[in-house]
Amino acid sequence: GTVRGRSVVALSGRLHAYEGYPMQDVVLPIRVMALLGVKTLFVTNASGGINPDFHPGDLVMIEDHMNLSGRNPLVGPNLNQLGPRFPDMSEAYPQALREKLKAAGAAHGITLKSGVYCWLLGPTYETPAEIRMLSRLGGDMVGMSTVPEVIAACHLGIRVAGVACITNYAAGLRPERLNHADVKAVANRAMAGFATILTETIGSLE
Ligand code: HPA
Repeated sequence: GTVRGRSVVALSGRLHAYEGYPMQDVVLPIRVMALLGVKTLFVTNASGGINPDFHPGDLVMIEDHMNLSGRNPLVGPNLNQLGPRFPDMSEAYPQALREKLKAAGAAHGITLKSGVYCWLLGPTYETPAEIRMLSRLGGDMVGMSTVPEVIAACHLGIRVAGVACITNYAAGLRPERLNHADVKAVANRAMAGFATILTETIGSLE
């Protein structure tokens, strides 16, 4: 469809590595989008908040990520027609695009925090010890998705903007236990904010 006069391919739902899909399958939609001519990818996810300034319901712009899964969708023979063998990841989430996201949020009174996303394979939530480790490593939020798609996009030369919804305090930070129902409920409430920010950002692309 179109958003503010721009062609948009919207994908709802993704394959996760923890479901057992081969990494090539997880990133196939990104490669199809590239072949359709997509130049900018917006990714969203649900994350556990590690940074003490993050609270459930917060929207956090992904400024960078850590791949702590031990997996990478580019393992195997390189598909030279798609991209280089050793892709540069030094600006996976380009600053110019991050500034547009921030401005889009501000234009609608939505505060976008900013942080480093850690990808762990899952499907278990983390242990409190793992969360303390991620915190010391410089991680601000944690989840089980997104990074494979971002790696594939970098490989393809697609620029990426990412927003995480903090659905819960990461394990051990609060007395409460983690559960999927709470994560889903908070994520659903964040939908409208996501839509507003993405629509506004798409409208501001050159
Ligand atoms: N950990 C990992 N993935 C998640 C979390 C979490 O706390 N919340 C939502 N997705």
